[in-house]
Amino acid sequence: MSQAETKTELADLIRERIRRNGPVTFRWFMEQALYHPEWGYYSRPNQKIGREGDFYTSVSVGPVWGRIMASQFLAAWKIMGRPHAFAIVEQGAHDGRFAYDVLSWLSRNSPELFEELVYVIVEPNKNFEAEQRVLLTQNFKEKTKWLKGLMDLDTSAFLGVIFCNELLDAFPVHRVVFQRGKWWELFVDISGPEDQFHLSLGDLSIDSLRRQLEIIGPREENQMAEVNLKAINWASDVSSALRAGLVLAVDYGMSRTELYSSARPHGTFRCYHKHRLVDDPFAAIGATDMTCHVDFTSVAESGERGGLQVIGFLDQHHFLVGASQTYFSPLIEGSGKMSPDLQAELRQLQALMHPSTMGMAFHFLAMVKHVPELKNLPGLSFGDDPRKALGLCQPPPVNDYGS
Ligand SMILES: C[S@@+](CC[C@H](N)C(=O)[O-])C[C@H]1O[C@@H](n2cnc3c(N)ncnc32)[C@H](O)[C@@H]1O
Repeated sequence: MSQAETKTELADLIRERIRRNGPVTFRWFMEQALYHPEWGYYSRPNQKIGREGDFYTSVSVGPVWGRIMASQFLAAWKIMGRPHAFAIVEQGAHDGRFAYDVLSWLSRNSPELFEELVYVIVEPNKNFEAEQRVLLTQNFKEKTKWLKGLMDLDTSAFLGVIFCNELLDAFPVHRVVFQRGKWWELFVDISGPEDQFHLSLGDLSIDSLRRQLEIIGPREENQMAEVNLKAINWASDVSSALRAGLVLAVDYGMSRTELYSSARPHGTFRCYHKHRLVDDPFAAIGATDMTCHVDFTSVAESGERGGLQVIGFLDQHHFLVGASQTYFSPLIEGSGKMSPDLQAELRQLQALMHPSTMGMAFHFLAMVKHVPELKNLPGLSFGDDPRKALGLCQPPPVNDYGS
């Protein structure tokens, strides 16, 4: 793809803004490219994930992902003492497939939790909400609820789980480069008779970015990186939204030390179109997915500052080793041979756990409020000390958990 394909309404809108106000931050550009309400990548009608789309996620591998996660939510509910009015809150629910798989499994396997359950989807995108309602309303009308943002949750009442898969890596980021002893920010500018897009360097646009780069510290000459301030703020929002329970965030990502190491001189920003990496973020703006890996250390620090306690940080492979024991044991015990459904589930599990693809690329960050016993969740059984793995300061901040 070339920039010849960028003569679209969205590209024109971005050019117009640059002509008027000068170069824009990469974060603003990425926000438009992914989330502009009319022309952004995630606002296109029939936006698909999986074979027909631009990338796969664990949800698109098949229903076993949602079913195994449902068995973990059930375990969390039991550990929390089977409270009434338990909520599962999902953010980034896309077409609602994960919610459908979770609710279907719980309705069949745990009528007690299903009775108490409300499944809340946090969804600002009206196209996705409409799609989710079509999928979920017929069977689960009484169990589902939609909110526009986390701040709309009734925080005094909310007991349960907040879950997201590949939400944080889809947030717009600032991009920076270390040169001549300091960090510079990448901006999007235009030049030439055709108003071609290109990147330019400038001073840091906001104070919060400067503060975060002070934490990251100096790097090697020309090292590039991304800073996802929205993911850091998200952790503080979820800590305020939850009265008691579990926060589980699954995503591409790693600890801060690993993410910003010299092994990644170009950072981790990537664009995908039809399952292929695209080098130029300005080719097909609004038709290309953009993403970058999550700095889980900074997300966890923000959660701890907000009153959450970190109880797990491990790759998807190790999480599923623990979680699938609980899920598969009752299915295998007693039955002499495997049903076709079980065989399909095991094939899906292999894809989710494969060490050279999804198994190692994705990490689970688990944080809790008021219920430290949730560290006994089966999926966390094979994780190492999470605070050590994340490189968090010792000891943890003292939180006033109240009563
Ligand atoms: C990479 S997709 C992942 C979808 C799904 N969780 C999965 O694993 O297949 C990222 C999703 O996050 C959604 N998203 C981004 N920002 C959001 C926000 N602030 N609130 C809710 N959803 C958001 C996007 O619309 C998109 O559906």
